[in-house]
Amino acid sequence: MPHASDTPPSGAMRALGRGRPHRAGDLLPRFSRWHAARANRWEWLHLQRGELVLQWLGEAGSLARSLGAGQSLWLAPGHRWRIARLSEDAEFSLQVFADDSVIADAPQPERARLLEAAPRLEAADAAALAQALADLAPGERRLLRTPFDPAPCVREALADSGGTLTWHPLGADAGTHAALLVRCAEPVDLLDYLGRDHALIEAALVGALGGDAGRERWLRSLLARHLRIEEQDIFPAFLAAGGDPATVRSLQREHELLRGHLDNIADPASHRGLLLVLEAHDEKEEQLVYPDFLARIGSRAAALTAAIIARGPG
Ligand SMILES: [Fe+2]
Ligand SMILES: [Fe+2]
Repeated sequence: MPHASDTPPSGAMRALGRGRPHRAGDLLPRFSRWHAARANRWEWLHLQRGELVLQWLGEAGSLARSLGAGQSLWLAPGHRWRIARLSEDAEFSLQVFADDSVIADAPQPERARLLEAAPRLEAADAAALAQALADLAPGERRLLRTPFDPAPCVREALADSGGTLTWHPLGADAGTHAALLVRCAEPVDLLDYLGRDHALIEAALVGALGGDAGRERWLRSLLARHLRIEEQDIFPAFLAAGGDPATVRSLQREHELLRGHLDNIADPASHRGLLLVLEAHDEKEEQLVYPDFLARIGSRAAALTAAIIARGPG
């Protein structure tokens, strides 16, 4: 399957909607970053005016394609793309289609590999961990395991990192603490951090549904922490900044559904329910809710992001 194509995909496609027209002057930051449509979603980008260069990641690395006014491109599910260049007068629309021949019964592969693909890091004591954190270069990530609670040492490094270091604690089991550490080139924003948290939850879910008890513990810890961040830090601030109460009520209902399905994860109906609710919920938050939230809180985002990242395990 090509990652990007001039011709529409074969099969039954159901239009899910078209967002507002996107213009160079107020481009959503996510379009400039690598991101991917979800498991059964095709995106159709149509350029009305100006010029645009779109990049996507193929097996052999990054590929680029220039589009002129009136041209369009189909972007395949699960493949990462971004807008590399946009002329000042450019205007485009993005329409999302669901491929109903594909059942979204597993998280998209790129996200599911997140935990498996991270190099391992063992640190025997706080001094070794502090050194490893100082040595972690931009663009690198590590799956950390320590025989002690790494939170105090990690929090110190987070505070000194200028926002470029992040961690996602995975909880502790039999005295071994685990976390994913990521060093970014630029200070991380909340959308990136919570989006990666979603991807990690989906990656842990893949292992849990495959019968891996360790991954199921990570899933419980990650999901508990993530839901708490949203319910205690994000939703109140979203409402205080004029966000729609109905949006928060519906997200909160979905959180309860997620908790209910997780309590019965061995039941096949809950297993499927968990996948379906999580997939749609994460997509809605990443595409609609978080960008709206960030636009509303403006300059308060940096302090809130730092406080959220520093939170301990769920
Ligand atoms: Fe949520
Ligand atoms: Fe979320």
